Amino acid sequence: MKSDSLVSTLPAVGETEAEPIVARKRGASTVRVGVIGFGYWGPNIVRNFHALEHCEVVAVCDKNPAALKRAARSYPGVYMTTDFAEVLKSPDIDAVAIITPVWTHFELAKSALENGKHVFVEKPFTATSQQAEELIDLAEQKNLRIMVDHTFLFSGAVRKIRDLVDNGTLGPLYYYDSTRVNLGLFQHDVSVLWDLAPHDLSIMDHLIVEKPEAVVATGSNHLNHLADMAFITVYFPGNVIAHFNVNWLSPVKVRNTLIGGRDKMLVWNDLEPDEKIKVYDKGVNITKAEGVYDLLVSYRSGDVWGPKVDSTEALKVELQYFLDCILKEETPTNDGVAGLRVVRLLEAAEQSMTARGRLVTL
Ligand SMILES: NC(=O)c1ccc[n+]([C@@H]2O[C@H](COP(=O)([O-])OP(=O)(O)OC[C@H]3O[C@@H](n4cnc5c(N)ncnc54)[C@H](O)[C@@H]3O)[C@@H](O)[C@H]2O)c1
Repeated sequence: MKSDSLVSTLPAVGETEAEPIVARKRGASTVRVGVIGFGYWGPNIVRNFHALEHCEVVAVCDKNPAALKRAARSYPGVYMTTDFAEVLKSPDIDAVAIITPVWTHFELAKSALENGKHVFVEKPFTATSQQAEELIDLAEQKNLRIMVDHTFLFSGAVRKIRDLVDNGTLGPLYYYDSTRVNLGLFQHDVSVLWDLAPHDLSIMDHLIVEKPEAVVATGSNHLNHLADMAFITVYFPGNVIAHFNVNWLSPVKVRNTLIGGRDKMLVWNDLEPDEKIKVYDKGVNITKAEGVYDLLVSYRSGDVWGPKVDSTEALKVELQYFLDCILKEETPTNDGVAGLRVVRLLEAAEQSMTARGRLVTL
């Protein structure tokens, strides 16, 4: 661990306002980053930031000294600390990445914003929608960016699917149906709903432009008080429907999503090394529907097509975008507001699950 301290450069109490730091950053071409949390996911964030141009990883913080030791071995030039306040208050840091458990996101992000730092925060954004709203307001007041790590939006597969939706290949959407199951990893502080479903909800939010109307969820817990499996249904206007199956008690790992449109349907298997997406020219045409008994259905079964999917690591694309948004003073698509939409859906699903599947309107 490096011995020289960031504290020596800390401003005196009362000088920690955002303005002087932001003013100094304008026109700068490098974003100086501090990362809090070097457990399971944090190393991926540090590795990607470290490799990007226009970025300097200034400090890594973890309250667990063993984690810091690992970080120090890989990044000998980077300042290491067990005290998050050092990162949050250092005037040598422009942006803070918060890669810690969900229950810590709000306090750490709030303090980072209060100290004039842009924030990259893990999914789910916060533990409650009130917390998310408070952070969004604070960032707006201080003219700072919040980006929520909705990693999958930056994967080649989701970028390709978004193209296929936007350019009308699939036609108007009918449904989104995903299965994200495996054995573990059990989290200590959140259920499978809050751990795995944010991935699918953020993808759904990115692909379906209509606002969801209602949520129904069921689930169950078998090993502690936190649900280890959940089935979530989201209703949209125009009979568009989304369904998610998330489960930590599956003997096999499955990452399968079906997206059905009027004109084409696709299957996305994220575990496939190649050909992750297959687009099917399949569908159902109603050829005559004058009366209930006159309904003539014909099935269309045409070509299957495997579009090329960019294999660049999603986090690399996402973190580059974070740096760009800071340097160009632009609002990211996966900003605090996008994070809040996901948290609202999680809260509604939790409420429905507690009432054994009662419909919760949004
Ligand atoms: N985007 C993704 O694909 C993805 C994948 C995995 C995890 N995550 C998210 O990342 C976050 C962390 O998950 P994880 O699996 O890495 O958890 P983890 O428990 O493995 O790691 C968290 C680390 O944060 C440290 N920590 C906790 N509180 C701290 C504090 N106040 N100050 C300093 N260090 C502190 C812990 O010591 C630990 O090393 C969660 O929000 C999770 O949902 C996202």
